[in-house]
Amino acid sequence: MELIVAVYDDWGIGRDGTQPIALSADRKFFRETTRGAMVIVGRRTVEDFPGGKPLPGRENVLLTRSGRAYPGFTVCASPQEAAALAKNAPKAFVIGGGSIYRQMLPYCTAAYVTRIHANPGSDTFFPNLEEQQGWRRAEVLQTGVEQGIAYEMVLYKRLLPEES
Ligand SMILES: NC(=O)c1ccc[n+]([C@@H]2O[C@H](COP(=O)([O-])OP(=O)(O)OC[C@H]3O[C@@H](n4cnc5c(N)ncnc54)[C@H](OP(=O)(O)O)[C@@H]3O)[C@@H](O)[C@H]2O)c1
Repeated sequence: MELIVAVYDDWGIGRDGTQPIALSADRKFFRETTRGAMVIVGRRTVEDFPGGKPLPGRENVLLTRSGRAYPGFTVCASPQEAAALAKNAPKAFVIGGGSIYRQMLPYCTAAYVTRIHANPGSDTFFPNLEEQQGWRRAEVLQTGVEQGIAYEMVLYKRLLPEES
């Protein structure tokens, strides 16, 4: 399982339930990277989806403790349950938000991180993978500037046992 996230300079990822700065290059990268895959998402982040609807062209797995049904989503009541489902999918990405990234990071072997060089002030954060033990920066996949804001898409990988 892998994850995909956009972070600001302070590794903030959102404020008041949404992303204060969203770049269209990042949206495009997200769409292309996750196309056809399973995506695993927390209930609060789904509230920020257009119309609260599942993302088209992907199998949407929603995490909630409520026991509610969400049309178009496969509902899971725990990260373990979501991880078990992901095992049977050819490709699966954790797509947020903060609490789901935190709980599912131990299951992930790679992280696609868009580093957006701005500091809009967040109330939700992602662990800083530059400092996180067991992770390494593997590759810069893309760089650019949009609306005067520099960004890069960085692939981080979990260290193999012999590397740590
Ligand atoms: N920058 C990015 O790439 C990015 C991506 C995604 C989201 N975000 C941001 O992240 C923020 C939202 O993150 P968040 O942490 O507030 O919410 P979240 O992780 O999206 O969703 C939290 C909800 O997930 C469910 N949940 C959490 N742990 C669970 C567990 N162990 N078992 C079952 N269900 C569980 C609960 O739903 P119930 O309350 O229904 O039980 C909980 O309220 C927003 O600001 C959003 O914009 C940023």
